[in-house]
Amino acid sequence: MTAKILRVCGAVPQGLLFVYLLLILPWVAAAPPYNAVASADLLATKAGLEILDQGGNAFDAAVAISAALAVVEPTGSGLGGGGFWLLHRAADGKETMIDGRERAPFAASRNMFLNAAGEFEQQRSINGPLSAGIPGMPAAMVHLAEHYGRLPLKTTLAAAIRYAREGFAVGETYLRSIVLRYPAMKNSAAAADIFLRNGAVPEAGFRLVQKDLAHTLERIAAHGVAGFYSGPAAAALVEGTRDAGGLWTLRDLEEYRVVERDPLHAEYKGIRVTSAPPPSSGGVVLTESLNMLSGFDLRPVDTIDRKHLVVEAMRRAYRDRARYLGDPDFVSMPVERLTSMAYADELRADIRLDRAGFPVRKPSAIPAAPIEAHNTTHFSILDKEGNRVAATLSINYAFGSCFVPPGTGVLLNDEMDDFVSREGSGNIYGLTGGDPNRIEPGKRMLSSMTPTFLEDEDRVAILGTPGGSRIISMVLLATLDFAQGQAAASWVRVPRYHHQYLPDLIQYEKGGLTEREITGLQKKGHRLNETSRPYGNMQVVLWDKKNGRVTAASDPRGDGWALVR
Ligand code: GLY
Repeated sequence: MTAKILRVCGAVPQGLLFVYLLLILPWVAAAPPYNAVASADLLATKAGLEILDQGGNAFDAAVAISAALAVVEPTGSGLGGGGFWLLHRAADGKETMIDGRERAPFAASRNMFLNAAGEFEQQRSINGPLSAGIPGMPAAMVHLAEHYGRLPLKTTLAAAIRYAREGFAVGETYLRSIVLRYPAMKNSAAAADIFLRNGAVPEAGFRLVQKDLAHTLERIAAHGVAGFYSGPAAAALVEGTRDAGGLWTLRDLEEYRVVERDPLHAEYKGIRVTSAPPPSSGGVVLTESLNMLSGFDLRPVDTIDRKHLVVEAMRRAYRDRARYLGDPDFVSMPVERLTSMAYADELRADIRLDRAGFPVRKPSAIPAAPIEAHNTTHFSILDKEGNRVAATLSINYAFGSCFVPPGTGVLLNDEMDDFVSREGSGNIYGLTGGDPNRIEPGKRMLSSMTPTFLEDEDRVAILGTPGGSRIISMVLLATLDFAQGQAAASWVRVPRYHHQYLPDLIQYEKGGLTEREITGLQKKGHRLNETSRPYGNMQVVLWDKKNGRVTAASDPRGDGWALVR
């Protein structure tokens, strides 16, 4: 694992504390004394800080980091993918989420991944052009720049263009993930040309140069949305996907639109939680879980009971994810009820301290999903004006669909797998669902991405993580850590545990449960499974308004860097 920087700035000499606070308290309450960025890659973090140094705000930095990650972390996100950018604008307190989630092409259909026998053929929903939704990332970056930033795209995209053109040495995550995705990658000549070395898995020291991607980024810098969704870039994307059996049309690209959505707000023991609304399931599942847990005093309980209660809350909230959630532009969902305390009271009523599961428990036939590849990405930003961005971006599974339309350099997502293709069949993360998340033309697939802000009287946290279905449970655990007053460095490091309703299993990292906890949870009837690898790559910025301290932390499981200056 790469070394991390975790800096804490703004510590005050003890003796001067009282005078210092008297003089500057009104000021520190209004604005943080430092800029802070945490992202999954040093080059991306630097790109963001450079933009802040040039007079850009957090939103400009978000454009720069999104684009930089698209270049330097092709396992996680890219121009061929999408994401959610949760914003807080200090000047007027506006909070919004830019929904740049991919949409199904207009020619997509409910059963497109089923064979003649009605079986789900998952290889087709995770590999190749059929697995790719219409990307939202370029449109979202342009939207951010035009509506919230103050610098031109030529400036904010410059670092990404430089990284793509000059290349960089790939890291451990890349080298590990490419081994897993090699069989799919070698089927796309353009992808193999870029991401493999002479058709083989590259070794340490491999320099990734992406000239076509640099050119596509330049087109976006020069022409905005038109530089990707119409003209020569769109023609190459459509021709490339269709030649390889995809369904994309020029109309799919021309009609793609980002949507600004009102974030979800919850209250947990004096903490204001702001998170992602549908088409993310993140905010709903997080709110439901916290609402259920707010009825328990978790502090004095034994850790076996505490983890049992957290797991039972996850179980119930993820069940509602599967039952009710989908694209709000297509399905009507009982979000208000699901996130109400009255509903949490009902759910909590059947949680038993001595027994796992629901009163009537059905065994699960769904196997634990092998989510061991690195996928998705997150970054967090705080600027000196107090603007915040929490952004979780994805091309879905590691290296997305492993398909690049020739001449574009754009690695396409395989987000179509986030739809429910067949009731009872899990996606790559083992997530199940029903009608609200079935494939429909133009529909956004349900996501687990959970960019989040946490605030109490003194502190503001900006956080999120990749990790497929486990994203929401990781953010939940971090929220509980925030509530307990733990440092950000602890939330990103602590070994994790997870339950997602189906499979009916507590999945945990090595060290996520002690031997005593494992035995205690088994006695309550839980089934448990240790994951073969650590998971998640959380990126956090924490501002303590009371003492003017800004902290940033990057998950030691990844190659990320957190900087405060
Ligand atoms: N592709 C992962 C997610 O959006 O949940």
